[in-house]
Amino acid sequence: MHQLRQAFLNLILNAEEVLRECNGGNIVISTRAEEGWAKVSVADSGAGIPEENLHQVFYPFFSTKRVGEGTGLGLSICYGIITNHQGRIRAENNDMGGATFTVEIPLAPTGGTKKTTPKKKTGRAKGQ
Ligand SMILES: Nc1ncnc2c1ncn2[C@@H]1O[C@H](COP(=O)(O)OP(=O)(O)OP(=O)(O)O)[C@@H](O)[C@H]1O
Ligand SMILES: [Mg+2]
Repeated sequence: MHQLRQAFLNLILNAEEVLRECNGGNIVISTRAEEGWAKVSVADSGAGIPEENLHQVFYPFFSTKRVGEGTGLGLSICYGIITNHQGRIRAENNDMGGATFTVEIPLAPTGGTKKTTPKKKTGRAKGQ
């Protein structure tokens, strides 16, 4: 959970950074549960992502920020965390003129998760 929090924080910080460049705007965060997936999207009204960069933003060290301002690791770390949770993440442009990052994490199967506490040994002594 701690890692997922870090991943979402990264997405929000990216949105906040792009909005600062654009002198303001909106960040819209939405959550929903759909077909066994928890879906969270972070959308901003910033400048969006050029089409040719859309498939590169999750690569380590890909950054369009000025030298010394971004390492280009934020989204690759997000990608690693989300896929470690059997999830998926994608980037696209939105109607607000900005970018939307959507994270989808599989929900635990309904009907309750099985507890994995070890079974108690039935301590029957030898010969009983
Ligand atoms: N919300 C966004 N709107 C537009 N472009 C974005 C957005 N989020 C990420 N990007 C693009 O993806 C690139 C990679 O993002 P990433 O978070 O991996 O690195 P970074 O923000 O440049 O540096 P840092 O390692 O400090 O996070 C950014 O440089 C930017 O070009
Ligand atoms: Mg970043």
